[in-house]
Amino acid sequence: MRRMAIVLAAGQGKRMKSKLYKVLHPVCGTPMVGHVLNAVERVQCERNVVVVGHGAEIVKGHLGDRAEFVLQAEQLGTGHAVKQAKALLDGEQGTTIVICGDTPLVTPETLAQLMELHERAQASATILTAELDNPQGYGRIIRAEDGSVMKIVEQKDCTTQEQLVKEINTGTYCFDNVKLFAALEQVTNNNAQQEYYLTDVIGILKAQGELVQAFCSPDPAESIGINDRVALSEAERLMRERINKRHMLNGVTIIDPAQTYIEADVEIGPDTVILPGTSLKGRTVIGADCVIGPNSELTDTFVAERVHIMQSVLQEASVGNDSSVGPFAYLRPGARLGEHVKVGDFVEIKNASLDNHSKVSHLSYIGDAKVGKNVNIGCGAITVNYDGYNKSITEIEDDAFIGSNVNMIAPIRVGKGAYVVAGSTITQSVGDNDLAIARERQVNKPGYADRIRAQAKAKKDRNS
Ligand code: UD1
Ligand code: CA
Repeated sequence: MRRMAIVLAAGQGKRMKSKLYKVLHPVCGTPMVGHVLNAVERVQCERNVVVVGHGAEIVKGHLGDRAEFVLQAEQLGTGHAVKQAKALLDGEQGTTIVICGDTPLVTPETLAQLMELHERAQASATILTAELDNPQGYGRIIRAEDGSVMKIVEQKDCTTQEQLVKEINTGTYCFDNVKLFAALEQVTNNNAQQEYYLTDVIGILKAQGELVQAFCSPDPAESIGINDRVALSEAERLMRERINKRHMLNGVTIIDPAQTYIEADVEIGPDTVILPGTSLKGRTVIGADCVIGPNSELTDTFVAERVHIMQSVLQEASVGNDSSVGPFAYLRPGARLGEHVKVGDFVEIKNASLDNHSKVSHLSYIGDAKVGKNVNIGCGAITVNYDGYNKSITEIEDDAFIGSNVNMIAPIRVGKGAYVVAGSTITQSVGDNDLAIARERQVNKPGYADRIRAQAKAKKDRNS
């Protein structure tokens, strides 16, 4: 049996009150239409068609070549939206799954069950429904006395009696492709919203004596359709719970799942512990046996094994085995730490590599630098990488020792095994094994402390 999918993503989403088109609002970091397409892809259809309208180019940009697109130039309703796909799917024989781009929690398992039920019964339409305690806002499933599905009635068109119905339309359906497009020809916009409702296809097929059935979703949480920001936060919470549960079942310890924010594409190895207040975003990958957090944010970052990251922010960074970061470190794009590296408190690293066993323990800025193995960078030492126009490179070779509060004015090279004395401002490269000192020689004046205090006191007395 040939399978097709139509994802509806042309609406603006007025109720979101947003510049961003509704289906692009992220849920756990992925635009909601991306979640929907992920689920659809897992049931393996021959054709995946996305109907775009508002923000068409941006939506297409997000989905790329994962789907075929049709334009719905004017948003005249969900029925009208599906009809636009006729240009691509006309004459196809088989099952078409129609799904709304604003229902990101629907799972591939549920879609597969829906498909199977539909195909096994050779039905004309099978609706994915859910029983909700609060059905407000959704289309209601109206059944005949014998329990068979009669029609779907939108919230705004419901009688008071129909409003009491708790079984709702999730906006996902399977149709016989040919019958779907035939029935759409008969849909009118004679309703409260003056829209062409896809939901009217159900009543039309039923009136033709076709087999229409419903599959009630085992988990009503999957059915949530996002129309406003209240529902968006609800979906975010449900998706977060789902993601966290998956990691926990894979062997990750999450101390407080309600306060741990892991985006959909993040990977985490077993026996890693995630402490509260931690956000893991984008394409972040974390290996086994790490401790991450509390209160850390990692974006598009690679973390190897046995790494400890405390109260820190990492963006497009990578951290090798057995290294530690923080507390209160900031690794910016291009920070690359080797193995057994230590980056301590109030250290910022940008576009810089630190090779194995090197340490920057406190209060440093290392930017545009290449640091070798086993280098010790003392407290408060910094690379001076920017003159207001140009970024320049600092190279520090293996086994070098950089004293506290050293300024390295780039471009500069500190040779292998070199020793830079604390408080130096280094403007010339230092050779291998050389010692560099660049500061005033110290003068001690015996007993002068009392004299200087007497002078200061006299000045104060004169002025008062
Ligand atoms: C729709 C269903 C409702 C169901 C609910 C489930 C209809 C008439 N109603 O209502 O029965 O309970 O979903 O969440 O279908 N869209 C277009 N073009 C349009 C209009 C909408 O592409 O002209 C897209 C939207 O981008 C959205 C989806 O279709 O992704 C659903 O539209 P929306 O306006 O949110 O429908 P609901 O009122 O929620
Ligand atoms: Ca909706």
